[in-house]
Amino acid sequence: MTTPWNHRYAQRMHNMGSSLLRELLKLTQDSEIISFAGGLPAPEVFPVDAFREASCKVLQEQGQRALQYGASEGYFPLRQWIVEHMAHYGIRAKVENILITSGSQQALDLIGKVMINPGDLILTESPTYLGALQAWRSYQAEFTSIPVDEDGVRTDLLEEALCSGPKFMYILPNFQNPAGVTLSLERRKFLVDIADIYGIPIIEDDPYGELRYEGDNVTPLVVLDAQKHIQQTDNGNEQGFLRGNVIYISTFSKTLAPGLRLAWIVAPADVINHCVIAKQGMDLHSSTFVQMTAYELIKDGFLRDHVRHIREVYGYRRDIMLDALERYFPEGATWTKPKGGLFLWVTLPEGVDTMTLMPKALENKVAYVPGSAFYAADGLPNTFRLNFSNASPDQIEIGIKRLGEVIEQELARHTTDRLVIAG
Ligand SMILES: Cc1ncc(COP(=O)(O)O)c(C=O)c1O
Repeated sequence: MTTPWNHRYAQRMHNMGSSLLRELLKLTQDSEIISFAGGLPAPEVFPVDAFREASCKVLQEQGQRALQYGASEGYFPLRQWIVEHMAHYGIRAKVENILITSGSQQALDLIGKVMINPGDLILTESPTYLGALQAWRSYQAEFTSIPVDEDGVRTDLLEEALCSGPKFMYILPNFQNPAGVTLSLERRKFLVDIADIYGIPIIEDDPYGELRYEGDNVTPLVVLDAQKHIQQTDNGNEQGFLRGNVIYISTFSKTLAPGLRLAWIVAPADVINHCVIAKQGMDLHSSTFVQMTAYELIKDGFLRDHVRHIREVYGYRRDIMLDALERYFPEGATWTKPKGGLFLWVTLPEGVDTMTLMPKALENKVAYVPGSAFYAADGLPNTFRLNFSNASPDQIEIGIKRLGEVIEQELARHTTDRLVIAG
């Protein structure tokens, strides 16, 4: 549509994503539609009462401070808590290595602002998190990508991609959004080694690591990288981390609530300082009140028990979805079997386009996100992402049945078309 504003928009807005998809996703808001499209947590697990208590306490005891401007780096006690929290995963950091951000989406945007010049090449997984592509497209990044399989990003294809000289690699090691796959330890080690050899930093985005429903945690890239540097410098402890080649990002969005907009970056102090300067230009700092309330809530161990509860709820929903897929999806459809996180990834037979199938799914009152949204360039049109955390178990059963019918009809139509052409 032409408006008087059209010629005023910056060039960076020119390639900011498909509006067709955005229009389709708007339709998923209809309350009759069972939507597996969003990446939404289940609202039933939000700790509303605990937040009410924590926020009252903060206002009663430190109200003036909570409503005042704060430090751009974030609320100091919360940063200290994150240092201890990260240590449970083997990530050694000091407070100066932590920056609180307004969601990990802001962390990605900050990294873009600090690192990306127009035309810089970023190496991503394929498919990858749509929000990262969106954030970095606005800094006029170019993308090169490597496919993922059941063990995460195909590191056997990495060396060739690194030769093209990317500014950094963007890796989602745990229960990847959108594919739900987890990077194996062997591949993690290889990735960290080769990144070091080529001098290409890694952005490790880990919003789902804590939401594991089976199996053991796999060592984060940032830890493997730190161990490597400790070995190299041979003088132990924090030295290893501070010289690190990995920036780690995580969030409270999936473990507490996304509406808080609270996340963090762990990085060498120099990187944090650059991000702080960039953040000052964006929002000065993340909400003091929200940071203080979150800290009040989690400081005495609340999160551990709460995450245990979330794992049970989501693990159960994942099982219900996997079971329903087995029963209702036609032969020829395959899907990943995630050990955690919020998503799984479906591949239909070649020739099916899930973008053109979407209006039919919406007519049948069910929604997903077509796979093409998650590719920096041309992707596999016969794929889509399903979220299993937001819909109730009953809705999952009904929604997957509806979707199975839509797919079955589509496959039947393809077969008929082929017969007509052959005839
Ligand atoms: C891989 C990944 N990174 C970042 C985000 C952004 O999360 P938030 O900004 O809520 O922390 C998401 C949200 O779904 C995600 O899946």
